[in-house]
Amino acid sequence: MAYPRLQWYVAATSGEISRTLLERRILDEPVVFYRTESGLPVALAGLCPHRLYPLAQGRLTGDAIICGYHGITFNSSGRCVHIPSQGKIPDRMSVRGYPVQEVGGMVWIWMGPPGSGAPGPLPDISRAGIAAPGFRHDFNPLFRLPARYQLLIDNLMDLSHLSFVHAATVPDGAHVAGVEPQISESQGVLSVIRKFGQVPAAGFIQFLHPDIVGDVENTLTSDYFGPSFINAGGPWIRKPGESVERQMNFFHAMTPETPHSTHYFNGVSRNFSLDNEGLSQMLLGQSAAVIAEDIRALEILEAHMQAGGSNLKEISVVGDAGALRVRRNIGAPIQAEQGDTPVAEQAKRPAPARI
Ligand code: FES
Ligand SMILES: [Fe+2]
Repeated sequence: MAYPRLQWYVAATSGEISRTLLERRILDEPVVFYRTESGLPVALAGLCPHRLYPLAQGRLTGDAIICGYHGITFNSSGRCVHIPSQGKIPDRMSVRGYPVQEVGGMVWIWMGPPGSGAPGPLPDISRAGIAAPGFRHDFNPLFRLPARYQLLIDNLMDLSHLSFVHAATVPDGAHVAGVEPQISESQGVLSVIRKFGQVPAAGFIQFLHPDIVGDVENTLTSDYFGPSFINAGGPWIRKPGESVERQMNFFHAMTPETPHSTHYFNGVSRNFSLDNEGLSQMLLGQSAAVIAEDIRALEILEAHMQAGGSNLKEISVVGDAGALRVRRNIGAPIQAEQGDTPVAEQAKRPAPARI
């Protein structure tokens, strides 16, 4: 499968990377992660070039990895620094080092192929309330999605599914499917916005903001930062007379593991009740319950896509406008990165009919 490679992907939450070697498959490549003695995250190609033994089965000595099979040793740049059986070290006895950076409690990896130039900028995740003044954010443990990452992007860019997939877990989402979304784009972020207008502060809104009585403006949004990161924002509440919107965000990072599975990172951010630890735990639990429903639905879709046997074309509707824009957005960078080679498997699906 072709992946958009010129992207920063979340490889792990900060707490997952330590002085214990961690192997994780990213864009179908085995990668080994650890921290240097000074605490910096390192990502190296996961197989020893000698006999392709997984480096995660070796051990650290200082900032270097000793391969667990024959002891060849690589520093944190991936350069070989020791071969037990010989003094001369050939240049090609090395492993690739991936650019990484740690921002917002996440370790991000740049998957651009060697020779493709310097990494681009990280998405501005402060717009999702991560590492942003006045916000706090918390993470769920990593989920594994047994489906291709594009299905998760489709899912998150069309929140009308809240009214159906999550009818039991998000009772306030019953009206979402009936509200026509607006599409806008600013600073490289594509937003699908549903404005509910003035609504009574009831249900989940009242639970979150017990101090509010009467009507509030309520907004729900999906912000697409790129194929690796989407923020589902809402409810965003504006109380009459208040200048600052009270925001809650369910942010999602999707990192392809294989052509048919995805590392699914999730967390919640908000700019109110910052010291309420119990609220954080409750929201994370709520998000996990919702995600379990999405995983179930996308696993079913993935299985049917792999089984094939249907010539049916998808028929799109108004609510798909954002997801369709994103599908085109994903296909284009892959084409640009790969010249004339075929685009992602996603684009090989039958073309959706016109809206
Ligand atoms: S496979 Fe790593 S040293 Fe032989
Ligand atoms: Fe969902």
